[in-house]
Amino acid sequence: MSSNRYRYAIVGTGRPHNSDGATGFGMAHTHMPAFQSTAKVDLVAIADIRDDNAQIFLSKYQSEAKHYADYRELLAVERPDIVSICVWPHLHAEMAIAAAESGVKAIHCEKPMATTWGDCKRMKAAADAHGALLSFNHQRRHIKLFQAVRQAVRDGAIGDLVMIEAQVGGLFDWGTHWLDMMFFYNEEQAAEWVIGQIDSRTERRVFGAYEENQAISHFKWRNGVRGILLAGHDASIGATHRLIGTEGVLEVLTERTMRLRGKGDAEWRIVEVPQGELNEHRLTALDIVRQLDEPGHRSFLNVDNAIQHTEVIYATYESSRHRGRIDLPLIPEDSALLALLAEGAIGPNRRA
Ligand SMILES: NC(=O)c1ccc[n+]([C@@H]2O[C@H](COP(=O)([O-])OP(=O)(O)OC[C@H]3O[C@@H](n4cnc5c(N)ncnc54)[C@H](O)[C@@H]3O)[C@@H](O)[C@H]2O)c1
Repeated sequence: MSSNRYRYAIVGTGRPHNSDGATGFGMAHTHMPAFQSTAKVDLVAIADIRDDNAQIFLSKYQSEAKHYADYRELLAVERPDIVSICVWPHLHAEMAIAAAESGVKAIHCEKPMATTWGDCKRMKAAADAHGALLSFNHQRRHIKLFQAVRQAVRDGAIGDLVMIEAQVGGLFDWGTHWLDMMFFYNEEQAAEWVIGQIDSRTERRVFGAYEENQAISHFKWRNGVRGILLAGHDASIGATHRLIGTEGVLEVLTERTMRLRGKGDAEWRIVEVPQGELNEHRLTALDIVRQLDEPGHRSFLNVDNAIQHTEVIYATYESSRHRGRIDLPLIPEDSALLALLAEGAIGPNRRA
């Protein structure tokens, strides 16, 4: 292991989850202990427009890191090697792009990627142009149960993969995690087409970002496997994820439990997979830092993996606008969800 240490900065501290005055989950309070535990980073600065949140953060971690109200000034003055971006989704793109342009080596940004498809593409383009290692916090890739699911498929436990189904509370916010897992199970294949529909009869926002009430997304990957994601308050498939193969079925029940009825199984087999010593956040931080220690190593939370499933989210919105199947790559760069809302075609102010 290299003995290098890296200059680390966080943009958006929030307040600890469920504490007084918290506006969200305070994800910076998850990133910080995870990156500290690598013993490879020194927190040099934080940026937050709220001084109270910043001071709570610095005192909690007994840190003498500098506080900036303006994240651009932090980037220019502190020249961090690694930056965590822990603000709401509408700010992800401008911050990740500014970080890449300022020379940050590894940018670890919270999910979902951004609030338009064009912004997602611009983030990747900026990272690629400046050689920045951009990743998104789809930390569930580091949960052992999900890794065991992918391994079971690789081992042929359910024959050849035919279909992956999932249920989720919302397509945009949580949907990004489960679509990410679906692409992970299917070996990061690119999707070929998407057909979907959304319903948005009441205003719903998650971390400030507008989210539909219900959605269905049906898509086909280039290797022929199909995906179906049901989203919203009434979404139910009787499991969290279901993987259907030519010779069996595997269902994810919790983040520690799956059940499997594969080749030669007369009954369901329950399989428990404990996480082990390191939680997914610590494993994520180790993986991000390793990219700097070992040139050539790329975190598997990298932008190339994230953007593939994010395209399905925006293509589902586009399918609803277009009233038909969307063949990828997705061309329109806006969010059809936001455009339909703005023109009164969906949403609480929908024209009759
Ligand atoms: N990976 C996960 O499992 C997971 C879980 C929850 C939330 N999230 C994501 O984390 C992100 C952040 O959510 P949160 O709940 O931590 O938010 P939060 O509300 O707890 O904290 C956000 C912080 O950003 C600050 N901020 C706002 N504008 C800023 C600016 N221009 N410059 C600097 N700071 C600014 C706010 O003052 C606040 O302190 C969201 O994208 C959310 O989707 C991810």
